[in-house]
Amino acid sequence: MSTSGSEVLTAQDYSRAGELIREGELVVFPTETVYGLGASAVNSTAVQRIYQAKERPQDNPLIIHFGTPEEMLRTIPKDQGLLRRAVEIFSPGPLTVIVPAPAWAVPQVRHNLPTIAIRVPSSPLAQSIITAAGVPVAAPSANRSGRPSPTSAAMAYQEMNGRVAAVVDGGNCAVGIESTIIRAEADRELIILRPGSISKDDLTSALNCPVHYPSIATRTSGPLVPGSRYRHYQPSVPVVLIPPGAVDDAVAELRSLDNDIPYTLLTVRNQESYQRYAERLYRSFWLAEQSDTRVILAEMPPAGVAEGLADRLERAGTGMYKTGELSRLLFTE
Ligand code: TXA
Ligand code: MG
Repeated sequence: MSTSGSEVLTAQDYSRAGELIREGELVVFPTETVYGLGASAVNSTAVQRIYQAKERPQDNPLIIHFGTPEEMLRTIPKDQGLLRRAVEIFSPGPLTVIVPAPAWAVPQVRHNLPTIAIRVPSSPLAQSIITAAGVPVAAPSANRSGRPSPTSAAMAYQEMNGRVAAVVDGGNCAVGIESTIIRAEADRELIILRPGSISKDDLTSALNCPVHYPSIATRTSGPLVPGSRYRHYQPSVPVVLIPPGAVDDAVAELRSLDNDIPYTLLTVRNQESYQRYAERLYRSFWLAEQSDTRVILAEMPPAGVAEGLADRLERAGTGMYKTGELSRLLFTE
């Protein structure tokens, strides 16, 4: 692995970024969700190097990215009408679908599964880079294993400098959490394997079909998303989850415990959407880790709202605040 610094590219350098990928190099680039760590999905050596750069277990397969929905649809069998419709409606965008693996997908990209995960990012820069590469691009989130997915060029650079040929600076990611992953059952219903900004309601109303999260039974009999086996990122600063509306109580209680304790408050600000909250979530965690913050108080969205954001908060959280119990959450572990 290279020990010298990675080249920093900008949007104008998209063809150079694509060329590097085509030649088998690793390139970090922005998508609308999070920064990806890209390599040619048809080059097993290049894909292998993604796992090294991420220090990622080899049995966690990658998402393959296409530059256009037309190319993505070519990889979805004609008899998968429901998935094809989902792609026609939501691609380009933060939707990943699971389909039978085509012959060109090297085993390393799918960890020998009979399926692959595919999507088309809506970020025009990501599309130009993938199109310039001229190959499908395998790209997990550009974090080292156990770290937050980068949603800014600075985060991505800190994670991957020296481990990749280039980092493309495309500013902050608009969505801020990873794509919604779905698969179809009998071409009749959809299963959400990973929640994201495209919600169960979005899918249900657009496709007019049953949409489920995996049942507890299937969840315990084996992971449907292989990656869900691994411990998800938790910031080194404890994250206390606050039920919707209880932020003022939690802050007052923190103040009564210790008036000087530095904390970070994550909540939906006035007039702001949960989308904006999700957009800055990982950056807030990252900034808190680099500050003197001792605790992150994070307000949960109401039940059934912003399920992708709620999922990432739950995974990052150390516990749910209840009146009078903040000290137990913070000081017993
Ligand atoms: O928004 C995103 O999806 C970002 C950007 C870069 O596109 N990518 C991303 O990739 O989040 P990654 O590798 O961090 O997460 C991919 C997830 C993993 O949980 C993996 O287990 C799952 O997709 N996955 C990949 N192939 C699969 C398959 N054949 N069946 C089920 N799950 C699969
Ligand atoms: Mg990831």
